Amino acid sequence: MLSKTIQDALNEQIQHEFSSAYAYLAMTAYFEDTNFPGFARWMRMQYDEEITHGMRLFDFVHARGGRAAVNGIDKPRADFESPVDVFQSALEQERRVTRLIYDLYELSQNEKDYGTLVELQWFITEQIEEEKIFEEIIETLNLAGDDHAALLLLDRQLGERKASTADA
Ligand SMILES: [Fe+2]
Ligand SMILES: [Fe+2]
Repeated sequence: MLSKTIQDALNEQIQHEFSSAYAYLAMTAYFEDTNFPGFARWMRMQYDEEITHGMRLFDFVHARGGRAAVNGIDKPRADFESPVDVFQSALEQERRVTRLIYDLYELSQNEKDYGTLVELQWFITEQIEEEKIFEEIIETLNLAGDDHAALLLLDRQLGERKASTADA
């Protein structure tokens, strides 16, 4: 059984995961609109991943005898300067989420909720992976600069992203 404190905190994290999904959906729309189909596809898969994260916590709350909450989501940022601006914004968002998960981890430690600690370890590993991927893409985009040929090549490369099986 979840304590009220942990249930509320998990429900907030569900909201953050769906907010992230929504932000990635706005980024998908930006890339569709600016004719980067590969980046758009990549961001759409990122959207799918965040939905998976939200649903994973949603199911976890119920598995522990709690009640998940479906809270409102703010309108995400929709306008960007360039592809690298989008990925920078995404990296900042991931770093924010990492801090939120660390806070949740600390809270679970204080509450001695060992079940939640184990569940959160999956999210900590996932955040390390996501921050690394975004940092690598930003580095490559910075190298490409304003070179259109390099940007189109990267767009094609990211468009080949395979659905991750580790998130199921
Ligand atoms: Fe996530
Ligand atoms: Fe994420």
